[in-house]
Amino acid sequence: MYIVKSVEEMQAYVKQLKAEGKSIAFVPTMGYLHEGHVRLISEARNNNDIVITSIFVNPLQFGPNEDFDRYPRDEARDIDIAKENHVDILFMPDKSDMYPSDQGIHMDVTQRCNVLCGKSRTGHFSGVVTVLVKLFNITLPDYVYFGMKDAQQVAVVDLLIRDLNYPITLIPVATVRENDGLAKSSRNVYLNEEERQLAPYIYKGLKYGQKLVVDGEKNPANIVKEVKNYVSNQTHAKIDYVEVLNYPNLTPVKQINNQVILAIAVYFEKARLIDNLVINED
Ligand code: PAJ
Repeated sequence: MYIVKSVEEMQAYVKQLKAEGKSIAFVPTMGYLHEGHVRLISEARNNNDIVITSIFVNPLQFGPNEDFDRYPRDEARDIDIAKENHVDILFMPDKSDMYPSDQGIHMDVTQRCNVLCGKSRTGHFSGVVTVLVKLFNITLPDYVYFGMKDAQQVAVVDLLIRDLNYPITLIPVATVRENDGLAKSSRNVYLNEEERQLAPYIYKGLKYGQKLVVDGEKNPANIVKEVKNYVSNQTHAKIDYVEVLNYPNLTPVKQINNQVILAIAVYFEKARLIDNLVINED
């Protein structure tokens, strides 16, 4: 596995791989790798000649009061995990190389971003898309792998690829969970022992909501109310949102009769956790 730190070196490398006609898969991450990231890497590994994984904690996608400074980092461990999972190139750029001076150009997302996490994290998806445009331009992937854990991110990347005409195929990968159902996340390390016991109720709440739909509930407001009540009764987490929206357009739903997403975000003391289920009514 090659570890590449400079943008220039990465671009030279990719040029060579392209000339050799290799298919390039790209898995962008912010590091502190866990089995969710590994699942994306394995999918990429199984279907492509070259796997590039990036680790870059992107300051642009964190709000002023969010966890950029304390976001968990462990470079040595990440390098081992990437190696064990047969990544070809691990791209770990420095902040100064990615954002050398004040950005003169910044991406602006206008659809699929004013709901769910985009509503409570203003500017978050503009930051995500800005870094992804840079990373896509540096790594020139044929395929990009993103986790459904961040379903809104998948919907926004889908739009990015479509609207900017990237010759890239997006591959969404199912959420990897702990045995008790909690979605794997780098942020789970922020949970204290009691919160860790309660956190699986987030997914249980989603499953409960899904069951209501399967059993015939068509009114999204009722699902939202039931899931909020369920999660509030089982945990002391503060609910940021529970929403039912069309997926992937993320538009409002009057009556459930298409593919919808049931999504939730909650605050524990030091962690904001998200999860979702995409529900097909049929
Ligand atoms: P990060 O949170 O590190 O996630 C990197 C990728 O791993 C994302 O596509 C995310 O959806 C996926 N992932 C995380 N947990 C997962 C799980 N439990 N199961 C399946 N996939 C999971 O998402 C980001 O970084 C950043 O926004 C990034 C795209 C790198 C841009 O900075």
